[in-house]
Amino acid sequence: MATLGASILSADLARLADEVKLVAADADLIHIDVMDGHFVPPLTIGPPVIAALRAHTDLPLHAHLQVEGPETLIDDLAAAGTDAVSFQHEAVAEALPLHRKIRGAGMRTGIALAPETPADAILGDLEELDHVVVLAVYPGWAGQPFRSDALAKIQTLRFEIDRRGLTVEVHVDGGVGPETAASCLDAGADVLVAASAIFGAEDPARAARDLKRAAGAA
Ligand code: DX5
Ligand code: ZN
Repeated sequence: MATLGASILSADLARLADEVKLVAADADLIHIDVMDGHFVPPLTIGPPVIAALRAHTDLPLHAHLQVEGPETLIDDLAAAGTDAVSFQHEAVAEALPLHRKIRGAGMRTGIALAPETPADAILGDLEELDHVVVLAVYPGWAGQPFRSDALAKIQTLRFEIDRRGLTVEVHVDGGVGPETAASCLDAGADVLVAASAIFGAEDPARAARDLKRAAGAA
């Protein structure tokens, strides 16, 4: 059964704890886009906000790092109570030492793939990972259209993960909503991550419930 990640990028960040509580009954994890204004133009939030949110929810907090030099954030993320980290494949020269550092700090580790990065780029690392985040939009912004080339990438990852008998989760992040969820699930995604389809909806609790139902039916 697939699960749901609520991405707070489209939430009212001044009321973050309340926004998270709105979706807590249906979201299985909270996805937090950490952006530095360098790897991507926008600048968002980091460990201090994650630490503040930690006190208000028991849901797993998943930090999606869209930053240059992600290694500098790991200790602070762990201290903030982050459960899982993904960094962008494009942001590092060598991923394995960083995956080990993240695991060593007590967190789950994974890699995120921008649209231009093929699945092949990380197949050699699969055994070291807890999850792979397939971006179906360009990193940086919520509300972009879903890129259907992400589906083949999800299929490739699903095939390899199953063939090797691994338990690596495949997350699909970006452009996920009522119209695209089914094709992501058919392609083999385990976790649907959505920002605008949840927090941009008039009734975020209901939007989360509907998406969770779609995920659960897969
Ligand atoms: C994009 C982020 C996504 C974003 C998704 O850089 O990684 O997590 O929040 O937003 P939607 O669901 O609106 O496409
Ligand atoms: Zn993200």
